[in-house]
Amino acid sequence: MHFETLSTYEKLSERAADFVAAQILLNPRSVLGLPTGDTPLGTYRQLAARHKAGKLDFSQITTFNLDEYLGLAPNHPQSYRYFMETNLFSKVNLPAQSTHVPGGIGEGDEMAAQYDRLLQAAGGITLQLLGIGHNGHIGFNEPGAIFTAPTHAVTLTPETIAANARFFQTENEVPRRAVTMGMRPILQAKKIVLIAAGEDKLNILQRALTGPITPEVPASLLQLHPDCTTLYTPEKPV
Ligand code: F6R
Repeated sequence: MHFETLSTYEKLSERAADFVAAQILLNPRSVLGLPTGDTPLGTYRQLAARHKAGKLDFSQITTFNLDEYLGLAPNHPQSYRYFMETNLFSKVNLPAQSTHVPGGIGEGDEMAAQYDRLLQAAGGITLQLLGIGHNGHIGFNEPGAIFTAPTHAVTLTPETIAANARFFQTENEVPRRAVTMGMRPILQAKKIVLIAAGEDKLNILQRALTGPITPEVPASLLQLHPDCTTLYTPEKPV
């Protein structure tokens, strides 16, 4: 496990974008695993700027997002598909059919199984970018998650519902269920870059990266990955 502390959120975003850009240059047909949330916003801005400057070509890249709320249509402003379209997909030359976000409308388990099949057919993730929740969740793999789980439907914890309520008008509007890539396909990624911004993430980072490897802290499983880099800055996302 490699750990770097960056002095600012901007520097963290540049460094994370460097990893993604290097991967794309090395293998223009890479499969990227992507998170939503506040933390990757700066990375996505960087990637869009590099593409605009003619330095990064996404035309052969495939992407798989980690998760999606169940019950939100792709055009719902709080859906993760909408987030990705707004913050990255519309700003780079990724072919629409090469971007994958789990379906929000339909039967959760069926959509999850279908998503895993697509991911396997694409050869799995080459580079997985991750954020981390305050309770150690990865994607929507909450404390107690089964380490070997494939993509699956989950019920969100009260803590995650409360944390995500900031994006909705009321906490009641936060969907209670989601589809998430499981820890198995995430851990099968060839390379992982975990990004965390803000001193409020330091405690869980320490637990995840140096504490016991336990389902109670899903991110602790990253300790077993042979090529995982963690980028941390005390500065919150701006
Ligand atoms: C979302 C995801 C989540 C977030 C985590 C941190 O796709 O994977 O696990 O990475 O909740 O979110 P932020 O970055 O908003 O602190």
